[in-house]
Amino acid sequence: MKHTDIKEIFRDHAFLGQQVTVCGWVRTSRNSKTMAFIALNDGTSLPHLQIVIDKASGIAYEDAMPLGTSLKVVGTVVEGQNGGVEINAEEITVLGACPPEYPLQKKRHTLEFLRTMPHLRGRTNLFNAVQRVRSILAQAIHEYFRERNFVYVNTPLITGSDCEGAGEMFQVTTIGYAPDGTYPDAEAYYAADFFGKRAGLSVSGQLEGEVAAMSMGKIYTFGPSFRAENSNTPKHLAEFWHIEPEVAFAELPDVMELAEDMVKHVIRVVLDTCPDEMAFFDQYVEKGLIARLEDLISHDFAVCDYTEAIRLLKESGETFQYPVEWGCDLQTEHERYISEKVFRRATFVTNYPKEIKSFYMKLNPDGKTVAAVDLLVPGVGEIVGGSEREADYDKLVAAMEERGMNLAPYSDYLDLRRYGSVPHGGFGLGFERLIMYVTGVANIRDVIQYPRTAGAIH
Ligand code: 4AD
Repeated sequence: MKHTDIKEIFRDHAFLGQQVTVCGWVRTSRNSKTMAFIALNDGTSLPHLQIVIDKASGIAYEDAMPLGTSLKVVGTVVEGQNGGVEINAEEITVLGACPPEYPLQKKRHTLEFLRTMPHLRGRTNLFNAVQRVRSILAQAIHEYFRERNFVYVNTPLITGSDCEGAGEMFQVTTIGYAPDGTYPDAEAYYAADFFGKRAGLSVSGQLEGEVAAMSMGKIYTFGPSFRAENSNTPKHLAEFWHIEPEVAFAELPDVMELAEDMVKHVIRVVLDTCPDEMAFFDQYVEKGLIARLEDLISHDFAVCDYTEAIRLLKESGETFQYPVEWGCDLQTEHERYISEKVFRRATFVTNYPKEIKSFYMKLNPDGKTVAAVDLLVPGVGEIVGGSEREADYDKLVAAMEERGMNLAPYSDYLDLRRYGSVPHGGFGLGFERLIMYVTGVANIRDVIQYPRTAGAIH
């Protein structure tokens, strides 16, 4: 169907005086004595295009007025009020009628209500804007890495190993319910299954990413990760999109530099590319959002050692729900205190106790902490988790044995430490957490088209 994107009509005043064809859904409509007005949106731009109908023209407009109706409109682009453009309609075709039970009748709905209709909420300003920013961010991330000689690799989603070792894997099976006694034990059950052994959905592409980095030097993955953690919070999804760069010949400070530079770069791109959307979020979602982001990209991120973070938290005088002791994992309330109250900006926390981090992280000379880093941002908490990896074969084996891990499934991973091992590291950025931070949207369920969370699959 030949037509012009509404975004182009707004972008290019060269259309002024020309006849164009536009398509879209009716967002609002109103009548006056002699005129009818329709706000049309085709999803390419946040602002709606006003269609002006002169009732005397004889255009059959009544069927085009109900909210949600899809239209094709032929008309002339004219200057509207306050310097914008609008269309004087000459011909209107209803592509799809929309009955009064269409749920998006009101101008504003609660986010909870909209979550019940993921198939329609994209037709609201908020979700429309979020989706567009999400798309720009994804492309900016790809561009960022491509311009810096990173190779984009695709790691498997079905895996036999639990990368983070935290037992949060969804099982992949073709054998469903089995009556008692069908399999003598779990081993027999898994042996009868599709892969002949236990398989699950990957929680991270890191281990395979390390394999790729050991031949291509600089790689990144950008795909879904799956976590079966039963945490019903505003920042956890069971299926989230994960960006994981992995770099050879790199130590922890290099990993941090990369994370800071990348986050700042992609935020800059969104601010420059999506002014309408960002102004909308600033006005309706989080007042001061743009200033906050400008502030973030114009300052160095703070760096705080874990041990120092614990001291700061203990001396804060705050009452936290989760008690703070050296050795504890930082909870969201602690992360937010550190980045919002202490440093008031994005903060790297480094060198965590080895017991609370994964087996693959490089052991520090103190023998107690590992070269791990989390990036905490005000409002959201952790958006990045990364580390320098243990490149020493003996130390890696020792760390795995300390955790009672079976070495056999990791023989390839261990080989990387036998054949030309190099210092290397990387991080994982939760894509939806980044979008939350950039848009100010407080619930992760509202930055992905179909959120998957415990107990909820639409
Ligand atoms: O800190 P995590 O668990 O680290 C890893 O997976 C490493 N393998 C990354 C690496 O070094 N290559 O997860 C990394 C990030 C978190 O900081 C968070 O932003 C996001 O992934 N994340 C989630 N996002 C949404 N829902 C969840 N359930 C998430 N779990 C982690």
